[in-house]
Amino acid sequence: MSRSFPVAFVFAALLFAPLAAAVAEDAPPAAGDVPKETPKTQEPAIGWSLRNVDPEQQQRMLRFSTFTNRGIPEAYLKAENDVGYTVHAIAEGGPLYWAHCQKCHGDTGLGNGDLAYALTPSPALLAYMVQQPIAVDQYLLWSISEGGKQFGTAMPAFKDTLSEEQIWQIVAYLRAGFPDIEAAPAKKGGAAKTDEPDLD
Ligand code: HEC
Repeated sequence: MSRSFPVAFVFAALLFAPLAAAVAEDAPPAAGDVPKETPKTQEPAIGWSLRNVDPEQQQRMLRFSTFTNRGIPEAYLKAENDVGYTVHAIAEGGPLYWAHCQKCHGDTGLGNGDLAYALTPSPALLAYMVQQPIAVDQYLLWSISEGGKQFGTAMPAFKDTLSEEQIWQIVAYLRAGFPDIEAAPAKKGGAAKTDEPDLD
């Protein structure tokens, strides 16, 4: 009897719920009527999402939200890309990418360079990243110049290593889809830098 009681109760509750609701419509809801599962306070959307994603994604999202909240130096927000996407810029950017970025972000920006596996969070998948709406010039310039120190990531800051022009050249190379630049010295050398079979 004790086992069937809850079932019968639930059944009865289901049957009478519409009726009870109809009756309740007349009376103003009492303060104590709020269902238990309703959260008492509505959390801000960003707080909710940050708590529900894994810690690695949290760091990435922090980078995104810092940028979208304009929490970056004004100079980056105002920066203009005066290098553009010329063949020349892409050709200059290729070797720079190979010299400074490939060991973490991988040959074609898939985040699988030799150093990648030791890093948490892992290097961004730049090939996909540059296609995201957030990846405007100013976002990329800021991320590459300042690195990930403020977010506790391994992304180095390049503002003292590369000129702004060189960073724009790398951006051109990323946006061009990581083309196989003949002039990339590391690629020409082949075997030393990659495990892939030499196809030519
Ligand atoms: C030592 C490894 C390492 C090197 C070298 C490196 N990166 Fe990164 N990079 C990372 C890691 C790890 C992240 C992810 C964490 C973060 O966003 O700070 C990252 C993130 C980024 C982001 C932000 C992506 C996003 O999703 O918002 C950009 C852009 C980027 N790197 C570009 C570059 C470029 C261009 C170079 C070369 C000039 C470079 N990185 C060199 C490790 C590296």
